[in-house]
Amino acid sequence: MRPDPGLITALRDARHVCALTGAGISAESGVPTFRDAQQGLWARYDPHELATPEAFERNPELIWEWYRWRRDLVASAEPNPGHYALARLAQIVPRFTLITQNVDGLHQRAGSTGVIEFHGNLFEDRCHAEGCVVEHEQTATVPVCPDCGASLRPGVVWFGEAIPETALDTSFAAAADCDVFLSIGTSSLVYPAAGLADVAREHDAVTAEINPNPTAQAAGFDFAIASKAGAALPELVELSAV
Ligand code: OAD
Repeated sequence: MRPDPGLITALRDARHVCALTGAGISAESGVPTFRDAQQGLWARYDPHELATPEAFERNPELIWEWYRWRRDLVASAEPNPGHYALARLAQIVPRFTLITQNVDGLHQRAGSTGVIEFHGNLFEDRCHAEGCVVEHEQTATVPVCPDCGASLRPGVVWFGEAIPETALDTSFAAAADCDVFLSIGTSSLVYPAAGLADVAREHDAVTAEINPNPTAQAAGFDFAIASKAGAALPELVELSAV
């Protein structure tokens, strides 16, 4: 589906473009989403057993087993044309802010810089007691903090936890400042990330959703592109460049 000329014009004229990505942009790299039926991680696993601080405290071995499986899966995945198109968009527009809910690092591997990791990073290890990021070479089932001896945990944001303050503040400031806001590959169900589009809209940005399965919020966007990110984004970005 050819992108709407109105969206292309908005991108060509934009001073600041802001994009929020979700699991859908990595789906074409073979990384499972969370809420898609059958293949989605939360269709197969219970988030309360795997993605809360309480679950970690109950059974850290299980949590580490699951996150090591996810690390291996992502490590063997490659960025796809959707990731590369956003790295290219940053070179075309005067200012670009990329906010991702993904913890997979695929945007960075595609060449994007300054990515705001709203939900943390799968490959970081954090002290569960103090929150600091720890470099370690341990092979223990549950690694421990070399400074305080507390358990280390994956550096992702779990249900019931706060978004890192800098990521939160920078993201909401970017949404309020941008002229075009793109919501890509996200179900727009998880807040506060899902509220960024509202902020952009309140500040008169042109908004667009890119999702092969238009979300319940799609009607609230100025444009809804019902295509896969890996197909829609390269075309949109190239048309915006000329
Ligand atoms: P979801 O799994 O909720 O939604 C993924 C969206 O991607 C769905 O709306 C799909 O239709 C869409 N999609 C699938 N394939 C696509 C493709 N090729 N191109 C574009 N879109 C595609 O994932 P998120 O919205 O990212 O949080 O989920 C938000 C948060 O919920 C995650 O960051 C995670 C999860 O619990 C934490 O872990 C804290």
